[in-house]
Amino acid sequence: MKIDDHWAEARIEATRDLSATVREFTLRPVGVNVAPWTVGSHLRVTLSDEGRTLLRSYSLVGLPQDSAREGVYRIAVKRVDPSRGGSRCLWRLGSGAVIRIAGPDNHFELPLGAPFALLIAGGIGITPMLGMALTLAARGTPMRMLYAARSPEELVYADRLRAALGDRLVTFCDSAGERMDLAAEFGALPPEAQALVCGPAPLLQGAQAAWKGAGRAPAGLRFETFGSGGLQGAEPFWVQVSGPRAQRIEVPADASLLQTLSAHGVDVMADCERGECGLCTLEVLELHGEIDHRDVFLSAAEKSENHRLCACVSRVRGGGIVVDTGYRADPT
Ligand code: FES
Repeated sequence: MKIDDHWAEARIEATRDLSATVREFTLRPVGVNVAPWTVGSHLRVTLSDEGRTLLRSYSLVGLPQDSAREGVYRIAVKRVDPSRGGSRCLWRLGSGAVIRIAGPDNHFELPLGAPFALLIAGGIGITPMLGMALTLAARGTPMRMLYAARSPEELVYADRLRAALGDRLVTFCDSAGERMDLAAEFGALPPEAQALVCGPAPLLQGAQAAWKGAGRAPAGLRFETFGSGGLQGAEPFWVQVSGPRAQRIEVPADASLLQTLSAHGVDVMADCERGECGLCTLEVLELHGEIDHRDVFLSAAEKSENHRLCACVSRVRGGGIVVDTGYRADPT
């Protein structure tokens, strides 16, 4: 039985610490089989945190055929501090705990027909990339993988990748001052090559700029980000909503603007909730402080204008913001 969009229960069968901050969870669906999935897919997970229900998405790690054979899904979760709740909740759960899951869904497909693939992973962005790299290596597709983390210990799954890719895997550690040279990498790619990037927003933004600078077709760059990560830490701020539902609301450090507005009955359209699609973009009417733009949807010029922000991931530092949510009362 395929679980598709229906929520189902899954039992945590095992946990494994891959590093001091990354834990792998093996999930066995309860009463249903593992659904067929392709590399790049994610599971949606609901968690309970201090009376709040949290919805999170986690990439499936490994290969679909292993998942089907073993009847389990695997996700890997980085413990984030401060957390918006998801990693804190999951890290508290041990073997035997039951969570609710939906999916898998795939918004980050691996193009199998490309003549060359460059995979770029930053930190926990390795999770969808592991299966992609193993798949490409097994198919004999010409490829190269760049993988960056804070330290050698945080290069999780690197041994498995190295065994499959050999010197096609190049790692970078912040602690050693090592940096990817994306301009050089993109400049050296064959014409129809595809690049796939997964990691924090700054890595995505750097990749977008370098891809454009290399004069490559936009469709050749695919990405998925973890929108909650910004260059600066999250702090509380206030938001004032204009229009018929005018109210001033406090946004806590561990919740997004989108979640907070929704909890107060202010509907904002959203889809990806990772700062990629732009559906949640709000018009900024007044800014008190500075916007910490964490999306990869708005251009650098749009971000510097501060006329709009993506409510699912972006935040305000040092004050608050007055926004137009687009909500209008129905004419009577
Ligand atoms: S919901 Fe997609 S950018 Fe916010």
